[in-house]
Amino acid sequence: MCGIVGYISKDGNPNSLRLGVEALKRLEYRGYDSAGFAIWDANKKDIFCQKAVGRINKLEEKINNNSVFDNPVILHTRWATHGGVTDCNAHPHCDCRKNIYLVHNGIIENYKELKEQLIKEGHKFSSETDTEVLSHLVEKFFKGNLEEAVRRALSLVRGTYGIAVISREDPKKIVAARLGSPLLLGLGENEYLIASDPSAVIAHTKKVIYLDDGEIATLTPENFFILKEKKPEEIEWKLEEAQKGGFPHFMLKEIMEEPETIENALRGRLIIEEGRVKLGGLDGIQEKLRKINRLILVACGTASYAARVGEYMLEEYAGIPTEVDTASEFRYRKPIVDKNTAAIFISQSGETADTLAALKEMKQKGILTIGITNVVGSTQARETDAGVYTRSGPEIAVASTKAFLGQLATLAMFAVYLGRQREMALVMGKRIVQELAKLPELAKETLKSAPEIEKLAKNYKDFNNFWFIGRKYNYPIALEGALKLKEISYLHAEGVGAGELKHGPIALIDETFPTVAILPSDSVYEKMVSNIQEVKARRGKVLAIATQGNEDIKKIVDDVIYIPKTLEMLTPILSVIPLHLFAYYTAVLLGHDVDKPRNLAKSVTVE
Ligand code: F6R
Repeated sequence: MCGIVGYISKDGNPNSLRLGVEALKRLEYRGYDSAGFAIWDANKKDIFCQKAVGRINKLEEKINNNSVFDNPVILHTRWATHGGVTDCNAHPHCDCRKNIYLVHNGIIENYKELKEQLIKEGHKFSSETDTEVLSHLVEKFFKGNLEEAVRRALSLVRGTYGIAVISREDPKKIVAARLGSPLLLGLGENEYLIASDPSAVIAHTKKVIYLDDGEIATLTPENFFILKEKKPEEIEWKLEEAQKGGFPHFMLKEIMEEPETIENALRGRLIIEEGRVKLGGLDGIQEKLRKINRLILVACGTASYAARVGEYMLEEYAGIPTEVDTASEFRYRKPIVDKNTAAIFISQSGETADTLAALKEMKQKGILTIGITNVVGSTQARETDAGVYTRSGPEIAVASTKAFLGQLATLAMFAVYLGRQREMALVMGKRIVQELAKLPELAKETLKSAPEIEKLAKNYKDFNNFWFIGRKYNYPIALEGALKLKEISYLHAEGVGAGELKHGPIALIDETFPTVAILPSDSVYEKMVSNIQEVKARRGKVLAIATQGNEDIKKIVDDVIYIPKTLEMLTPILSVIPLHLFAYYTAVLLGHDVDKPRNLAKSVTVE
């Protein structure tokens, strides 16, 4: 997601900006849509700030080569979450007096309340971001000492942050703080760096100190201060590894980020005591949504499987008749819609040509269009009437993994949102919201099976064909598990509703054609067991995804991967995690380029 760099050195270095920009470029792999910096200008005794939409070289083009700056300098790459991709929304953000400049990673959950209060107190805002409240808050408390002002400002903030702050009136320092968003200090020779990711500092030093949650650090040209005594650590990664967060592939890094992705999607949106969810992007259409009596969900590929899970959630909990179509087909049928129909478009990139074409068609018919999108400011996000961002962060591996989790979590919130507008009781709302809040932890627990799944992949990699079966909420997960395996391992895999096996597919089953069965302990568990028996009767090998504590299943199947218990409607959010890992390890063992599988593109912008 966003990236932070800060640089300060002993002898004010005229190359500071160049060094900072180089370090920032090492964070480019994380994906971003705009960049900016703020630097102490020793001649003018002021801070110079510059921002640009697009790549870092667009920012570089704006720097006048004759300008002699000094340091400290703070730099940022932004990946939009609040507010579109514009120069104005890019970081650093400053206060009214242009004294405080600040870069931020994370999300300030209570920014709306803080902003309203600050506006009442006379502060003038110039961006749509949540971050800008931080610079005005620091301004409010600034009495000449930057650390003190930052400390007081942060005491009012709810959410997550990694920040770096500089001030014209307290110029020879960078103040940095973290809560839930990584930040480290790089301790070089006569120079200090601050960064959100080790890859930014590695070219300068391997000696680092990782800040812990709640810590505030101050860097001056001579020294650094953190309240707690901390020993520096050595970074062991090579530069290329660092860019993947130490993982061998982006895909594994992104699967390992799945718990965080769920957390980001849910952050600040669950109101547990009222059993409801708050989706700010729907505020403007709240009343229209009350009248909607039919939903159409449209998407492609993995996103269309999220839509299928959404169909079950929305029908069961919101009580709204829902249908799902893949965008490439939807366009060419004659969808019958009326003024009480809403169409929801789901897309990670927000640029998928088929989905956009279907969106255009629905807009032509004049119905309400809603986007569930990851990329802020993408065409889908701009063209829909309203929407919810999934906040999954940039997904670099071609095969979608963590974005799918963001889509599922968002759809579950959608079901509660619409359900609570209708018949859903408070107790039911509370129950779902409470279970949703537990999901990030349960997802972390699910990931602990990774070594076991790697071993299983070794046993299954030499089969050429696979069935993936599931029912109800986990039928779409069977489709997703099969798609992921075929995309990156090039093995033939098909997902099918387990009840459909006997209507044809079962003809293929023998000892050479294994089945991956997804059967959490839910309302269709017994039916799934019967379907597995049908497979076993034909000598088919079965790998099951089952709920922790279900020991009986071991007697029927060949291998089991356990997932924690949760509500039936939320089981897909956990059951898909082992399937992503299974596809990943199988492809790695077969020696394929998992991040860039053949014939595939990350964003399919052609029809
Ligand atoms: C599968 C995959 C694709 C995408 C599909 C839609 O791993 O990545 O199936 O899910 O192309 O892309 P978005 O979500 O960007 O519209």
